[in-house]
Amino acid sequence: MLLLVGLACFAQNPDDIPSSQAESAQVSAGKAQFAQTCGFCHGRDARGASGPDLIRSSLVNHDVNGNLIGEVIRNGRPSKGMPAFQLSDAEVRGIAAFLHHEATGAASVARRIPAEYPVEKLLVGNRAAGEAFFQSHCRRCHSVTGDLAHLATKYKPFELQARIAFPSGRKPTVIVEDGSAKTVKGEEVYQDEFRVTLKDSAGWTHTFKMGPNVTIEDPLQEHERLLKTYSDANVHDLFAYLEELK
Ligand code: HEC
Ligand code: HEC
Repeated sequence: MLLLVGLACFAQNPDDIPSSQAESAQVSAGKAQFAQTCGFCHGRDARGASGPDLIRSSLVNHDVNGNLIGEVIRNGRPSKGMPAFQLSDAEVRGIAAFLHHEATGAASVARRIPAEYPVEKLLVGNRAAGEAFFQSHCRRCHSVTGDLAHLATKYKPFELQARIAFPSGRKPTVIVEDGSAKTVKGEEVYQDEFRVTLKDSAGWTHTFKMGPNVTIEDPLQEHERLLKTYSDANVHDLFAYLEELK
């Protein structure tokens, strides 16, 4: 989200320029990556939003070159509201460099990490703007009286905000055209670059070699693509609107 703005700001801020040029490039790449992938929950400056402040995190403090941060990124903490992200080693090191750079700069400023984020603090968006945005961007696939009815009673405010940005749950559908003109279709169980396993409607699992005869339809792919087009403000406005669906 707002990747370009993040990059543009960075280049302008003299406080942000570390000693060596290579380091500077790594921090700036990490900053842009962080803003795009993590900023929505941790704040673009990593000082906390619905997710915790990472500048004063002791885990971040003890991290060396991404060894601890990378583990959290790759495994996530799904039960606590943090999804897993498959990032490259270089991307992880960039994010770590950015966080360490920020932490060094901020070390003198003490700030308490809020354990439970109060809903009033999440409600910084504009409800009417959120409704308008929903009508134009979401109604094609969703309805507030249909599939999203009572959404706000299903999730705690905190989880709801994460759901808007990172819905999960629905498994992709795998369709395999078999040589004998037979089609096998089912829910994806496992997939890597070599093979795919699906579960058919009768509950049987089948494994196939990956190939041009395999189609995978991920209902959330479009969601993910769209997410990159929303600004943080759009998401906050949407939250203010959807939080009322009780
Ligand atoms: C959907 C919201 C969300 C996103 C996106 C997200 N996080 Fe988190 N993150 C959380 C939450 C919530 C926690 C606290 C989990 C807990 O209580 O254990 C957390 C915890 C962490 C921690 C551990 C902090 C500590 O002190 O234990 C790190 C490090 C972290 N996130 C880094 C990242 C990075 C880097 C990204 C982007 C690649 C990211 N997060 C994206 C929600 C998010
Ligand atoms: C191209 C279709 C499409 C569009 C457009 C779309 N979504 Fe989704 N959305 C989905 C699918 C598919 C799911 C997964 C539903 C499921 O798991 O049953 C989903 C899930 C969700 C969920 C989680 C629902 C739950 O019960 O956990 C929320 C919240 C959500 N979307 C919000 C939005 C918002 C807000 C917008 C507009 C900014 C939007 N979506 C645009 C297809 C779409």
